[in-house]
This record gives sequence, C-alpha cells and structure tokens, in this order.
Amino acid sequence: MRNKIVAGNWKMNKTLEEAQALTSELIGMIADEVKGNVKVVLCTPFPYLHPVNQQLGSNKRISVGAQNCSEHDAGAYTGETSVSMLKSMNVPYVIIGHSERRQYFGEDGKLLATKVDKALAALLTPIFCCGEPLEIREKGTHEQLVKQQVEESLFHLSAEALKKVVIAYEPVWAIGTGKTATSQQAQDMHAVIRKHLASKYGAVAEEISILYGGSVKADNAKELFACADVDGGLVGGASLKSREFVEIVKAI
Ligand code: 13P
Repeated sequence: MRNKIVAGNWKMNKTLEEAQALTSELIGMIADEVKGNVKVVLCTPFPYLHPVNQQLGSNKRISVGAQNCSEHDAGAYTGETSVSMLKSMNVPYVIIGHSERRQYFGEDGKLLATKVDKALAALLTPIFCCGEPLEIREKGTHEQLVKQQVEESLFHLSAEALKKVVIAYEPVWAIGTGKTATSQQAQDMHAVIRKHLASKYGAVAEEISILYGGSVKADNAKELFACADVDGGLVGGASLKSREFVEIVKAI
C-alpha cells in the first residue's frame, strides 16, 4: 500500500501569528474530522518550521516540511538552509525542485539530483516536483519532458533510496491559475511516471507515492484523488485556508 499524503505548500505567505493560527485550526479540525491513514504535511516558510513543529508536538498525522534546501552541507552560503539544519529541527520532509524554484532561481535537474542526495543522506523525505510548462503541453512533448526531469534527478538513486522519495507532478500551467488538470490528464501523466520508474526499478515503482499539484481545491480533490495512480496532493493556495484544506484532506 502506498502512503496517502496531502501536503500544503504555503509558499511565501503568512505572518508568524497567522501561521500559528492556521496550524491550531488544522490540528483541531483534522483530529475531529479526518479518518483513515492519510499523512498531512505543512510546508511552511523556513522561519515558521520550528514554531509550527512545536505546536504540532507529537501529532501522529501532521508533520512539517521545508520548501527547499541547500545543495551544500554548511559554510559561507548567505541566506541558505542546509539539510542538517532541517534535520536538527526535526523536519521530516522537504520539497525539492518546485517549478517556481526551477523558473525563478534557475534550478536544473543536476542541481536537484544533488539536493535529493543531501536530503536522503540526512534522512529527510524529499518531495520531488516535476511538471511541464504550457508551451510544452501544447507542443505535445510533455510526457517526454517529465520523464526527463524524473530521470535527471532520480535515476542515479538505488532502489532502496528511491523508495524514500515522494514525487509530485505539478503541471506549471495549472499552478495558481485556477485551471486544474482533468483527472484523466493527471492519471495519464502519473501512469507515465510510474511506468518510467518501473522501466528502471521494476516493482519498486508500485511503492512510490505520486502526488498531484496544480489548483487542487475542495471541489476537485475527490475526482483527482480517485485516480489509480494519484496518491495525494501538493496544494498551494487552497492550503492557506483551514476549512478548504481540511476538505481536501478528507477527499482522499
Ligand atoms: P496551487 O494549488 O496554488 O495551484 O499551487 C500548487 C503548487 O504549486 C503546490 O506546490
């Protein structure tokens, strides 16, 4: 059985006070309303990881995640955060290769492979993102590009290491646009990713959780999560509102 995961990517939003208010609402609502074994991850901005983690305490269902990490171990890299810092704060997850990092910060497949290695070496779970921009979807080469992204940053891993990775497929044209992929488009790409993993790793591919991201909302989550190869979601805007996010978690 693959892990079911719903992760909220808060991106660069909220004050500390707002972050803590949202967290306490989520703790209460999720305890009261969410059944089954879905894992919930709150990918907060770096400064809020520690306070939010303190609030969560020993919560079994909800964890924190970082939105990025450095490819370096330590040293003179002003403004960066290393995996060992995250580890020392008991942060179990880290998003790697979000399309906004690729697009605005020039992160490429090779760099992301290094970040994946660093995260795994620190025993963090990388949530590795892939996905095509609109022009690639329109050209019809989206499957090829996503396979290449997965290959460039993950195919150097051993099967044992790959098992510890979570993948998120986030078509760039669906991020923050309100335009979600149809459940068929999501399922098709998730199946392509899983088949590509199987071509190298065989049956291990069946154990990898693949999340969908891109305008996931309370009213489309159920249909997306019902797809055979969709194991949860990576949610941006809708993760900033407690009621909306909890409805998404309940949809799984
Ligand atoms: P939206 O849910 O706001 O489209 O963002 C998706 C995303 O980028 C999650 O990482």
